[in-house]
Amino acid sequence: MLFSFKVIGYKALMGAFKIAGKIIPIPKPTLFTGAGSSLELCAAISQIGTKKVLLVTDAMLVKIGLLDKIKTTLEQHGVEYIIYDGIKPDPTYDQIDAGLSLLKQNNCDAILAVGGGSPIDAAKVISILATNHKSIQKMAGWFKVSQAGLPFFAIPTTAGTGSEVTFAAVVSDPVTHHKTPIIDPKTVPMMAALDGALMTGIPQSITAETGMDALTHAIEAYISVNASKETDRYATAATRLIIENLPKVVKEGQDKVARQQMAMASCYAGMAFTKAGLGYVHAISHNFGAYYHTPHGRGNAIVLPYILDFSLDTISARLAQLAKASGLQTNHESDQQLAIKLIEHIRFMLKEFNIPEQLESLKPEDIPAIAKAALKEAHFNYPVPKYMNQSECEKLLHKMTL
Ligand SMILES: [Fe+2]
Repeated sequence: MLFSFKVIGYKALMGAFKIAGKIIPIPKPTLFTGAGSSLELCAAISQIGTKKVLLVTDAMLVKIGLLDKIKTTLEQHGVEYIIYDGIKPDPTYDQIDAGLSLLKQNNCDAILAVGGGSPIDAAKVISILATNHKSIQKMAGWFKVSQAGLPFFAIPTTAGTGSEVTFAAVVSDPVTHHKTPIIDPKTVPMMAALDGALMTGIPQSITAETGMDALTHAIEAYISVNASKETDRYATAATRLIIENLPKVVKEGQDKVARQQMAMASCYAGMAFTKAGLGYVHAISHNFGAYYHTPHGRGNAIVLPYILDFSLDTISARLAQLAKASGLQTNHESDQQLAIKLIEHIRFMLKEFNIPEQLESLKPEDIPAIAKAALKEAHFNYPVPKYMNQSECEKLLHKMTL
């Protein structure tokens, strides 16, 4: 009975989020798309008067030469750059502070992120720290950023997070591993390039896991109670594109057409969830990720079918729509049959990608605390279609143990 009353409160909060989402404008970056679009973005950076950019990336991308053409193009257009390649997965306060110091020492007037979700998130935070005299902790939460950041541009090199169009960045405490989200429209880049040709060298496992992250964004946005016609269009397109193209790019990483489709899908999924929200998959995955450092996409991929099973009686019609849009309908199946078909297809994809159904590192003794933290995250942030209590969440987590 107590939980039922709490659910009324959670639903009211999500209703308020929906109203806020309609009132508060969320900027969209100018997008450059297609093979070579990352270089077009570099030219545009010079056109708006940028003199020197802090190029935020990770060391591996520098080592494999992925930035070479970008550096040359910036030089050709008279834009100086300083490379900061100290960003690692789940960027920490100190990695961001080091980037900010470099930016200030070199008088950079803009920031260019090249990389996966971590360099892009880190660059977002460096951009707003440069103009707001506040600590990261003071900007944590919703709408705490006062001033617009330094001009900021993003070139994603994985098709997964959609961070190039979202208004959130996550920073980790290096000691507690607690994740601090900064959610504010001022974190949206000014411009971004979706250049699938840059993604051809991404290893198979990262391609699969980041792609499953994008699929999770699309599906959680589509089944959200705060979904709208606009977010449905993006989520449906993303789901269809991912189901068609993710197996292709995992099998043949050099397939530039499929890579471009995945870059578009990841961006569409980002557009969908930035307005419609996420759900229990992300809440659970974030919280066991804090314990076991499970890569974000892999964690989501493992949890996704369990949450869809749990929510099935509430969302079968919605999942059936996604199944139809993704070409999974072969007969006159009922909504329930189509929804199950979609979930089974996701399980089939996981098998193809060598992603297990269980989380090997999950310890039964950690489950109560993980469930508690996941429910807290979900119930105060995500417009889920069907609510789950502590014992249901623990039961679901036990199914994921080996
Ligand atoms: Fe995600």
